[in-house]
Amino acid sequence: MELVETGIEGLDKLVGGGFIKGRTYLVAGETGTGKTIFALNYLLHGASKGEPGVYLLVDEEYESFVEGARRFGWDLQPIIQNGMLSVVTLLPDFVERVRSKPVETIVDSIVESLREEVERIGAERLVIDPIAPLVVGEESLVKMREYVRSLLVSIERKIRTTTLVTSEIPTGTAQLSRFGVEEFLATGVLVLGLRSVGGRFARTMWIRKMRWSPAEPAMYEFEIVPGKGIVVKTEKRLA
Ligand SMILES: Nc1ncnc2c1ncn2[C@@H]1O[C@H](COP(=O)(O)OP(=O)(O)O)[C@@H](O)[C@H]1O
Ligand SMILES: [Mg+2]
Repeated sequence: MELVETGIEGLDKLVGGGFIKGRTYLVAGETGTGKTIFALNYLLHGASKGEPGVYLLVDEEYESFVEGARRFGWDLQPIIQNGMLSVVTLLPDFVERVRSKPVETIVDSIVESLREEVERIGAERLVIDPIAPLVVGEESLVKMREYVRSLLVSIERKIRTTTLVTSEIPTGTAQLSRFGVEEFLATGVLVLGLRSVGGRFARTMWIRKMRWSPAEPAMYEFEIVPGKGIVVKTEKRLA
């Protein structure tokens, strides 16, 4: 199986070399745990190795995202300009337009747009951050699950990228993902969190599931380092 380096410092070694090419991985966690930085870190590593990436930005404006990244020490502009990164947003009226449509129609429309962009820049990596609010409306949980399932399956079938989706876990719950289906569909699941360790707060990365990888479920401490991204403290195994 061909592997794709995540580029997250410390992680590739822990998971036997990286993600499996063409598969979908889930990074879940409560708000502020580092999901967006993880996702961008993954794409920027690809860009640095000549593997272009597409980033579907879901709940933030393009300008504020690029500005936030710049403040973190990542200048996206030149990378976008040289065609190694594409940050795409849904048109503002997208959610309105699709609200009453069947799940299949919504998914086809999203996947088709993503496929075009992936082909345009020859992307090998894709990020959807986060997967949830794409169509959050008054829909029932059943419909949301159907949507998430259909989107993830359709991406693996029709877009041949190695894909990372993020999912926001509601604060204070023990869930692994927002809708409870993402973790079953993904080839691997990483859960980011915060916990108190010896009287201070530590960022934690729980390697929850890694199909076909030698990685055992394990939890490590990590840091967020401006200009660099996520650094897993492989010597600090917590569980
Ligand atoms: N410029 C920065 N300098 C240092 N730390 C930062 C910076 N920007 C963000 N962070 C850290 O990253 C965290 C947010 O990570 P983010 O990936 O946006 O979380 P999520 O996507 O899970 O909500 C913040 O809580 C903050 O601690
Ligand atoms: Mg985020």
